[in-house]
Amino acid sequence: MSQEDIQSLITSAEDAMQRAVAPYSKFRVGASLLTGEGKIYSGCNIENPSLMLSICAERVALVKALSEGHTGFKAMALVSSDGRYCFPCGSCRQILHEFAPGLILYLKSEGGVRKYDIGELLPYPFEKE
Ligand code: THU
Repeated sequence: MSQEDIQSLITSAEDAMQRAVAPYSKFRVGASLLTGEGKIYSGCNIENPSLMLSICAERVALVKALSEGHTGFKAMALVSSDGRYCFPCGSCRQILHEFAPGLILYLKSEGGVRKYDIGELLPYPFEKE
């Protein structure tokens, strides 16, 4: 991906982060997912007073894209409000691995951007087949 494309994905994640509903943790997360056709779906974390019902930004972006019929995801950008690298939680790693094997993740902190692939973040995923 070009630097420009990476930057647009990050900007989209930053915009989504502004829409986070995080009154409990006060930790806002934004995620943007690039589809095979070059479309971007973004998501933010959405918390609920019944805390276990809260949803991570990554899964919001992923289910939005899946429900619109997209597959073959290329990359995801992730940002958070504390300025540090926001590594996806274990549940998000598992679901991203399932629906987007080979996904490249760009994590942005105040210190810069780091690139990972999902296989590196989840080396031994649960796989049914
Ligand atoms: N969160 C995410 O949205 N993505 C992550 O990768 C880690 C955590 C959310 C869940 C919750 O709303 C808040 O950040 C942390 O309590």
